[in-house]
Amino acid sequence: MTAPVTTRSSADLIRAEEPVLAHNYHPLPVVVARAEGTWVEDVEGRRYLDMLAGYSALNFGHRHPALIEAAHHQLDRLTLTSRAFHNDKLAEFAERLASLTGLDMVLPMNTGAEAVESGIKVARKWAYEVKGVPADQATIVVAAENFHGRTTTIVSFSTDETARQGFGPFTPGFRIVPYNDLAALEAAVDETTAAVLLEPIQGEAGVVIPDEGYLTGVRELTRRKGCLFIADEIQSGLGRTGRTLAVEHEAVVPDVLLLGKALGGGIVPVSAVVARRDVLGVLRPGEHGSTFGGNPLAAAVGTAVVDLLETGEFQRRATELGVALRGGLSALVGKGVLGFRARGLWAGVDIDPTFGTGREIGERLLREGVLVKDTHGSTIRLAPPLTITTDELTEALGALEKVLA
Ligand SMILES: Cc1ncc(COP(=O)(O)O)c(C=O)c1O
Repeated sequence: MTAPVTTRSSADLIRAEEPVLAHNYHPLPVVVARAEGTWVEDVEGRRYLDMLAGYSALNFGHRHPALIEAAHHQLDRLTLTSRAFHNDKLAEFAERLASLTGLDMVLPMNTGAEAVESGIKVARKWAYEVKGVPADQATIVVAAENFHGRTTTIVSFSTDETARQGFGPFTPGFRIVPYNDLAALEAAVDETTAAVLLEPIQGEAGVVIPDEGYLTGVRELTRRKGCLFIADEIQSGLGRTGRTLAVEHEAVVPDVLLLGKALGGGIVPVSAVVARRDVLGVLRPGEHGSTFGGNPLAAAVGTAVVDLLETGEFQRRATELGVALRGGLSALVGKGVLGFRARGLWAGVDIDPTFGTGREIGERLLREGVLVKDTHGSTIRLAPPLTITTDELTEALGALEKVLA
C-alpha cells in the first residue's frame, strides 16, 4: 500500500459526484487513484486486478513504460499545433500505422465515435464521387446489436432503445440487418449502398463472434456489389484477439478500417480512419477536420503504440493466455456460467441469472479485488490488459469461481 493521494474517502468522493456530474454512467463503487500494469489502486490504497482495461483502451496495461516515456518526451517539446500547420510527428505516425495495417492513408481523429462518423462521411463521399450514387441517396448497411459510439448519427442506426430513446430525430440512410447473416446482407445491399459497416466481433453486444467464413463472405459480397467494407476495429483491434486486427483471423483486408481506444495507449484519445488511397483520397481541404486530430502528442503516443504492436509480443500473449482464459471459463460452465464466447484475451461470459445479474457479479468481484463490467443484463465482459500474467489471470478466474460458489 502506498501513501494516500487524497484526504477524501472513496465514499465521500462518490457522494460528491452525485449533484455535479451528469448521470450517464452507473460506475461500480470504486474510486481509482493510481495504476500500474494490470493493477489499479483506490484512494484507500486497496488494489484491484483490472479485467476491463478501459474497454480495451488499455491493451498495453496502465502506464506502459515505453508509452509514458514517449508521452513525456513529447510533452517537453510540442503538444498541439492544430492542422493549420504541419507538425514533425504526424508523417511518421501515418506512415507507420498505414504500414502496420497494410493500407495506404490515415485520417487522424480523437475518439472512436469520431472515427466512425468520419468513416461514414468518407464512404458517402466515395459513393457520390467514385461509385456515382445520385446525390443524397447513399445507404450504409449495418448490423443489429451493433455498437459504434454515441453521436446522433451513430445512435440513428443502433438497435439499443436505451441509446436512442429521447434523442431523435435520427439521421436517415442506414439499413440494419441481422449480424452473421450473409443472405440478409446480400438482400440489403443495392446500387445505392456506399458501405457495409461492421464490427468483426461485436464487443458491447457481449463479444459476439460471427461464424467462420462470415467476414470472408462480407468481403466477397462487398467487392462483387461494388461497395466498401468498413471494419470497426475500435474495440477488437490492436492485439486484443491475438492478431493485430480481428479481420486477420480470416485473412480479410477491409477497404476502410476504424481504429481508436488502444491507439492512444491509455494516455490520450487517438483514433483513425485508415483506408486505401482511392477511398480516403476523396477528401479535400476544408471538407473534414478536427482541432485535436493528429496532434503531435497523440502522434508520438500512437507511434509508440505501433512500435509495441510491431514486436508481436502482445498478439502472442493474447493468443497464449487466451487458451488459459478459455480453459478457466470452460471449467465454470454449469457452475454459474451458462456459456461464453472468447477470442484471444477477450470474453463475454453469460452468467446463470439465478446466480445474480451481471451487475451483482461485478460488485461481488469488486469485493474480491477484481474489476469487470457487465453488459446486457447477465453477461460480463473480460478484457484484461494484454500484459496480464498467467498467475494474475488464474487469480481473476479464481475470484469468479468464488463469487459464483
Ligand atoms: C466497436 C466500437 N466502435 C466505436 C466505439 C466508440 O468509441 P468512443 O467511446 O471512443 O467514442 C466503441 C466504444 O466502445 C466501440 O466498441
